[in-house]
Amino acid sequence: MDDPESLSARLLAWYDRHARVMPWRVSPGDRAKGVRPDPYRVWLSEVMLQQTTVAAVKDYFHRFTARWPTVAALAAAPDAEVMGEWAGLGYYARARNLLKCARAVVADHGGQFPTSREGLLTLPGIGPYTASAIAAIAYDEPATVVDGNVERVLSRLFRVETPLPAAKPELTDLAARLTPSQRPGDHAQAIMDLGATICTPRSPACGICPWSHACIARAAGIQADLPRKSPRPEKPTRHGTLWLGHRDGAILLERRPDKGLLGGMLGIPGDGWDGQGGPAPAPAQWERIGEVRHTFTHFHLILAVLVAPLDGPPSRGDLIPRQSFRPSDLPTVMRKAWDLARDRLN
Ligand code: ADE
Repeated sequence: MDDPESLSARLLAWYDRHARVMPWRVSPGDRAKGVRPDPYRVWLSEVMLQQTTVAAVKDYFHRFTARWPTVAALAAAPDAEVMGEWAGLGYYARARNLLKCARAVVADHGGQFPTSREGLLTLPGIGPYTASAIAAIAYDEPATVVDGNVERVLSRLFRVETPLPAAKPELTDLAARLTPSQRPGDHAQAIMDLGATICTPRSPACGICPWSHACIARAAGIQADLPRKSPRPEKPTRHGTLWLGHRDGAILLERRPDKGLLGGMLGIPGDGWDGQGGPAPAPAQWERIGEVRHTFTHFHLILAVLVAPLDGPPSRGDLIPRQSFRPSDLPTVMRKAWDLARDRLN
């Protein structure tokens, strides 16, 4: 088996040639010339990347940084605007924490992110993964960064057959042993790129992998079977209702409470989706036009979509003129209901 130093050296040599270009990333060539990444952009990208793929994040990242180029600008933004730009990414508690974090950086740290993993961990919404990623990528601290890509790569390289999530501590240990003191930020990004582009879940491209010669799973021919995973419990299905009321070109919408599912987001009034039913937001001739389905982390949701023209005053929500509402501000499940109903509104 290769020693950790030569494994990291091989990985870095591969990264020097094949690093992916990303809008928040400083290329290895520029990094070697002394260019340093902007911690604000590294932080923002890492929080977004916990939700979805690099490809999907790019658009969100461009919109956020065009609108709020610094952490101070983001900290000063109205909550509703940030929640609107985040819509579609999911995990809305993260968007609220994003704002809390930006405001803490401004209020408690003079607008500069703390420069160590320890310091970063004191900020709201920054957990061990994000703190390590920012410390490594922005400040070249030899912090160990372990995401799903890294878990996959290391379970194969070292043939760890313990299923996830039980294997996490062992994989973190192995990752720590590989983390070099030279170029730890590039090393962290390199191993994630390797997992995303070569050591992929189903058919890894071992023929062009800089670690194939050392990969124990590959030697045994079981690389595509790792990491093993403990079966997840089945998700339950919940049912509920959305009421899309309209009047004179305005639509009845409400800001959801900060706590709970889709917290802080603009939404179409619904019942609690807890099977208890609930009152419509206004008495009207509600017509059921169909249903939408959406899957959250812990459950599937099926919502009946009801539409009606409103006469009397609604008991909750606000009638928002159609031209001053952006459908893209809605969370995905609400957006699906909007797309179903839009042609029936007047
Ligand atoms: N996935 C999450 N963060 C990443 C990064 N900095 N580089 C590549 N892939 C990533």
